Amino acid sequence: MKPIRILLLALPILAVAACSKPQTHSPSIPKDPDIERQIDRILSKMTLDDKVGQMLQLNIDVLGGYTLVNGSPAWALNEEKVDTVIANYRVGSFLNAPGRAATPEQWRDWIGMFNKYSVEHLGVPTLYGLDHNHGVTYSQGGTLFMQPINLGASFNVELAREMAEVTAYESRAGNCPWVFNPVVDLGRDPRWSRIWESFGESPVVNARMVETEVKAYQGDDPNHIDKYHVATSVKHYFAYGAPFTGKDRTPAYLSPQMIREKYFTPFKAAAEAGALTFMVNSASINGMPVHASYEYLTQWLKEDLNWDGMIITDWADINNLYTREKVAKDKKDAIRIAINAGIDMSMDPYSVDFCGLLKELVEEGAVKMSRIDDAVRRILRVKIRLGLLDTPDVDPADYPLYGSDEFAAKALHAAEEGEVLLKNDGILPLAKNARILLTGPNANQMRCLNGGWSYTWQGSGIEEMAEKYNTIYEAFCDKFGAANVTLEQGVRYNERGSYYDEIVDGFGKAVAAASRADVIVACVGENSYCETPGNLTDLTLSENQRELVKALAKTGKPVILVINGGRPRLVADIEPLASAVVDILLPGNYGADALANLLVGDANFSAKLPYTYPREINSLANYDYKVSEEVGTMGGAYDYDAKVSLQWPFGYGLSYTTFEYSNLKVDRTSFTAGDVLNVSVDVKNTGSVKGKEAVLLYSSDLVASLVPDNRVLRAFDKVELAPGETKTVSFALPASDLAFVGADGKWVLEEGDFILKAGQLTQQVTCTATKKWDTPNILK
Ligand code: BGC
Repeated sequence: MKPIRILLLALPILAVAACSKPQTHSPSIPKDPDIERQIDRILSKMTLDDKVGQMLQLNIDVLGGYTLVNGSPAWALNEEKVDTVIANYRVGSFLNAPGRAATPEQWRDWIGMFNKYSVEHLGVPTLYGLDHNHGVTYSQGGTLFMQPINLGASFNVELAREMAEVTAYESRAGNCPWVFNPVVDLGRDPRWSRIWESFGESPVVNARMVETEVKAYQGDDPNHIDKYHVATSVKHYFAYGAPFTGKDRTPAYLSPQMIREKYFTPFKAAAEAGALTFMVNSASINGMPVHASYEYLTQWLKEDLNWDGMIITDWADINNLYTREKVAKDKKDAIRIAINAGIDMSMDPYSVDFCGLLKELVEEGAVKMSRIDDAVRRILRVKIRLGLLDTPDVDPADYPLYGSDEFAAKALHAAEEGEVLLKNDGILPLAKNARILLTGPNANQMRCLNGGWSYTWQGSGIEEMAEKYNTIYEAFCDKFGAANVTLEQGVRYNERGSYYDEIVDGFGKAVAAASRADVIVACVGENSYCETPGNLTDLTLSENQRELVKALAKTGKPVILVINGGRPRLVADIEPLASAVVDILLPGNYGADALANLLVGDANFSAKLPYTYPREINSLANYDYKVSEEVGTMGGAYDYDAKVSLQWPFGYGLSYTTFEYSNLKVDRTSFTAGDVLNVSVDVKNTGSVKGKEAVLLYSSDLVASLVPDNRVLRAFDKVELAPGETKTVSFALPASDLAFVGADGKWVLEEGDFILKAGQLTQQVTCTATKKWDTPNILK
């Protein structure tokens, strides 16, 4: 549970110039005049108190507490407090679970109670939001899928669609209409504690996944969201994943090129796909806290993209403008800065004094009434689009599939596509009667398979709620027979300590058990964590775990290394000891069953690494590093060279079959900015089993006025092929995608040669005319 910061319910509770630029971008969601008229009617009746109250979001746990129910402590919402806080402070939104996941029945009661008093006092239901990040995090008995990093590894947007649809359905089954998801922070720094919440390091993978998920969560018509869909909050806008220190919520220093070409890309895709809300990056970019940036919030998002959605802060982040970022002198100053920058709703979890302070600011003229009306209009628009004014609460009878076998089958299938085979000297697939020594701290618990945002914030203390699902040990007993599986962990996580605390059991028992096994499966990695508590001091896999693997390798029995964790912990000294390596990332409740299926060949591996897996701590790189980051030896007096040294590259992953690429074709050899390059390639399954191949299309700009990236992923697709089968995979690549942000800050596509690459095949194409876009900052 997040620590309770301050509760000030006893205290008196609770200007931006109109856009002058011409709108250049068509609205991502068509304006519905009926909705706008309905907003006008509601707004005209609202007092300033009503309006500032709508702009506040409070945390649920300030409104309830633990009581004894049948002799055991149970959390309950305090109806009197709910009534009072809504009546007095007109609060428009609530969030979060009280420490841990609740049942759908509890959620319906609680959110129903918020709705009841909101309608009674304000005439408008509440907007309840939950961090349902890989399934229904906070709803017991629902479906928990693999984490988004595994989805990135699957390179399969169809799975993204299925996962988001199920999560929307099950969220609504618990009366929750709003999820704080998808996350597209770009996992480009392996040290950061949240890279597993996004789809990995490629802007294009994140963009395709987020646009698919936004549509799947929200349904086909974002103006009229039905009872099986929810509003999304795409987060954390933007460049949150680039902390210079590697530590959560610390500053990013980024070039304009990195900002616009990479970090902004998936958010632009999300806005264009119709995402109804965005949540803001807690940290700063080049010294500017994003919560204080008029340029990023209002100009880029609301004006340049002509986006009519709602912007919510992250956790207490207006307060952080004065307590941490020091760009405001006190809370009132912080509110002034943030609301004028473009924030519409403040997630101020434990305090209602936002309302009174914002009211004062309006009365003093420091925040214009037009800014308040704009913010409230955006909030009401979300509530109306969700249909909450007509039907605030759901009917449980409409959700018979909650937690069903049908959804479980989807989660298992997805997990099979989200685990990456990185090495196989031929030991895999295993025979089903293989005798296995199962070892390592990740071998027998659910927590590490799910990661953070799983029943609880840190994913800890969940074993009881995840009891019905299989740990790796349990899945192996099912697959190989309990008599064939010996569990000797050697190292365990200390469940009472920090996520990185370990208990060494003595390796002796594990080493002794190896003599009775055909193969050792060492399950190593990390325990679950999330956000700042997941900060890290050393990216190398823990010494205990590496020593365990070394001791076991000395027995001479083959070792299969199973890596389970949210970020790529360095394994350079133990990888050579392994006959096979599988990175299962964070595969969720069905991840162990998926692993067992994959290891014996009941399912085939098809995932590829969604991020670059580093080999050395001083050689961190992304797949699209600049060409000059890798140079050969120069010779002469300055014997300079630089190497990009990786454990495994982005996009790497093996299968039980092999694929051959041929006939890479582009329909034109020269092009200009308005053209579309139609690219196709034939992919053949040349092995003896069925398999899926993710086909990745890269481009390289050979000479440019700014140092070019060595390659950039432009598009991807996944195909299933029977043995011997060939399929043609086609991509329509707008030539404008090959542009970059030039030294003057304008998008430019420069004359010259480009290489397109799929598999090992390349085609050269030539741009015959330079084009510069003179449109606002972020657009082209
Ligand atoms: C996290 C967000 C989350 C919010 C609400 C914050 O601490 O950064 O990702 O949505 O809390 O729980």
